[in-house]
Amino acid sequence: MHKQIIPNDSEYDDSVTPTYASRFLNQPIDKYDIPIDSLSPDVAYQLIKDEIQLDGNAHMNLATFVTTWMEPQAVKLMSETFEKNLIDKDEYPQTAEIEKRCVNILAKLWNAPSGGSAIGTSTVGSSEACMLAGLAFKWRWRLKRQSEGKAVDKPNLVLGANAQICWDKFCRYWDVEPRYIPLEEGRYHLDPLLAAQACDDNTIGLVGILGSTLDGSYEPIKEISQALDQLQVDKSLDIPIHVDAASGGFVAPFIQPELLWDFRLIRVKSINTSGHKYGMVYPGVGWIVWRHPDDLPKELIFNVNYLGGNMPTFALNFSRPGNGVIAQYYNFLRLGSRGYRRIINHCHDTAVYLSNKIESLGYFELLSRGEELPVFAFRLSKDRQNSFSLYDLGEKLRSEGWQVPVYTMANNLQNTVVMRIVIKENFSRDMADLLIESIKRQLNSLQISSKNSRQDHHQSFHH
Ligand SMILES: Cc1ncc(COP(=O)(O)O)c(C=O)c1O
Repeated sequence: MHKQIIPNDSEYDDSVTPTYASRFLNQPIDKYDIPIDSLSPDVAYQLIKDEIQLDGNAHMNLATFVTTWMEPQAVKLMSETFEKNLIDKDEYPQTAEIEKRCVNILAKLWNAPSGGSAIGTSTVGSSEACMLAGLAFKWRWRLKRQSEGKAVDKPNLVLGANAQICWDKFCRYWDVEPRYIPLEEGRYHLDPLLAAQACDDNTIGLVGILGSTLDGSYEPIKEISQALDQLQVDKSLDIPIHVDAASGGFVAPFIQPELLWDFRLIRVKSINTSGHKYGMVYPGVGWIVWRHPDDLPKELIFNVNYLGGNMPTFALNFSRPGNGVIAQYYNFLRLGSRGYRRIINHCHDTAVYLSNKIESLGYFELLSRGEELPVFAFRLSKDRQNSFSLYDLGEKLRSEGWQVPVYTMANNLQNTVVMRIVIKENFSRDMADLLIESIKRQLNSLQISSKNSRQDHHQSFHH
């Protein structure tokens, strides 16, 4: 009989034991308690690395808008700057300077009035930037109302029902009534006239989205602004606009430069974007810029002096990583406008190519084509809805590694189930063709199983 050889402790000398032969990989690890003993770094690394292999493959994640690939030099720079805390501006003045440069670059990209009076900051992402924009609106509205001796207990914000969840959060966390304009069949974002009609004395501002998270379409910011101009003529209400350009802030300036959506419209007081979406930086970095210092009430700015120096800050967090800001500047320098344009154009071409291919399969109806953001959504055509659902298809694609989200549209269209695809830099034409092949394969298998289940049903009925 085979005799088991029990190793003695000296055989577990970490410096000579191959990683997978370590005793720690032969036993369950503590999961919800801090372990009593330490592990060697190799073993700790391997344990965690192995476990996270179970996550989805980021390269096949067509759900996220967030960057899933950066070039090696950017990764090197980011990993060399992990220790920099962005709030330590006195200690890391060059990182602070780089943040300032990025704010200026974005202000110019978004056509801020000349003279350099725009101000802004980096954030953890667009959610934090949107909170800051909403707070600036609320404070400005309140100060004005107080100066007129009017009530300040019922602020509201006008936005489309398609707005991203960060706006629900803003309204709930800061006690503002959200006035959502419902969607309609064929209109999947904000309607200018309905938006203007929803405004009143208590409206702190209006949010326009470039572009919508649900289908990638751009809200008509220019037309919204014109509808608000008319409202001012008719009712003397002067409603400011914030543009949530989480994705579009890095798309429109490069490939749709004529589109009027930014500071060229005087009603646009602030704009946010996610550096970690089409800014092409790993999470989490976002940006917000205000047209003019008057648009950011000074009561919201804190001055911090205990780190040395007197530093103004307007952010929800205190400490946060500085390397996202550094990586953003790397992208600006490395890519230039030309580089950004080339990449976004590629994403665009791939999105339009893929949406056409998907349409030609004969199963789906497109809600958007990827012509604004390189993002599109589609639903099952009416005559296909009885055999299987998009949720079934989503699950089948997941079994091949593809992550394609399926969800219902917002208010008024909750019965519309859609699938959405976000094209990012690292999604090549070849990958698009591979995805189409997977979709065809899975549609076939869903058709066969739905036919079989219909036959089963038919037979059991006759028995
Ligand atoms: C329009 C819009 N606003 C805000 C956000 C939130 O952005 P972040 O994930 O950077 O916080 C998103 C995210 O998808 C978005 O699409």
